[in-house]
Amino acid sequence: MNNDSKIILTGIKPTGMPHIGNYIGALKPLIEKSQTNKTFVFIADLHALNSIHDAKEIRQHTYEIAALFVALGLNLDNAILFRQSDIDAVYKLNTFLMNVTPKGLMNRAHSYKAMLEKNAAANRDPDADVNMGLYTYPILMSADILLYNADIVPVGADQKQHVEFARDIAEYFNRTYGNVFRLPEPQIGINNGIIPGLDGRKMSKSYDNTIPLFAPANELKKKIMRIITDSKLPNDKKNPDESTIFLLYKHFANADEIATMRDMFENGKIGYGDAKKMLFEKIDSVLSAPRAKYEYLMAHTDELDSILAAGAARARDTANDTINRVQHAMLG
Ligand code: TRP
Repeated sequence: MNNDSKIILTGIKPTGMPHIGNYIGALKPLIEKSQTNKTFVFIADLHALNSIHDAKEIRQHTYEIAALFVALGLNLDNAILFRQSDIDAVYKLNTFLMNVTPKGLMNRAHSYKAMLEKNAAANRDPDADVNMGLYTYPILMSADILLYNADIVPVGADQKQHVEFARDIAEYFNRTYGNVFRLPEPQIGINNGIIPGLDGRKMSKSYDNTIPLFAPANELKKKIMRIITDSKLPNDKKNPDESTIFLLYKHFANADEIATMRDMFENGKIGYGDAKKMLFEKIDSVLSAPRAKYEYLMAHTDELDSILAAGAARARDTANDTINRVQHAMLG
């Protein structure tokens, strides 16, 4: 199969605004892929349910993720943008897949094991705070992936095992019921999703070192000026590939601009303060139009409702076809 004919699918949990590290590592490559490939992008609101029990909050975050993709230029001809919970077939497939999924597979899930370890460390019941939504999370995620015949599933490294589970579950199913499911493959983000944050460690909410994607210009500038550097002086030679400033800059600038900054670093022609200003101006120029579009959409959520409704109608075509085949295979 040629690469452009592969079906791409990914889900984003509506649990908060992505940051610049998510943008570089995952959103930008996905949006580029959506120019050439059939792409399913959905907001995984059912997956947010095991941790967020406030409907308003899920709804608000769902709009944010939808607005984000539209603002960043997801190609809505090739890409089907929808809300997971809008497609009834996913609940059905989840039930069907329960019956071919070994319990032992769920016991091996990293996310569940992390909870058990946390509870053990705190001397609590091993299953404290574990609801069945969390425990069976990988089955619902398999239903997402298999329902839309995905070939490639771009995810963060933390989700790789879940995509492998979807493939395992598809194989168990196919072995019993014939060749119903396509086997998906995980694809891990560029640089393995490791984009440096303000303190040089991986940009991550848990390190509190992120640069928000759509911060107002003055806030963006303040954050960027806080990037931690070593104490080299402007005319010292510096290794750009070890500098957070350059490592972020290269994802926003064009080839000539990147070469210019590289030369300035390597030949002692720029201080960190000025390099940070260059980085701020570049990021701001790339993100200011999407930011304005995002703000517009968040003030016009009726437009987002129609985009999501149109996406759901298209997603349903594929989903209903798959669920009919599954139901026929399992129940006759
Ligand atoms: N579990 C994913 C996350 O936490 C979100 C998700 C749900 C997903 N269903 C998916 C990702 C299907 C890829 C494919 O980020």
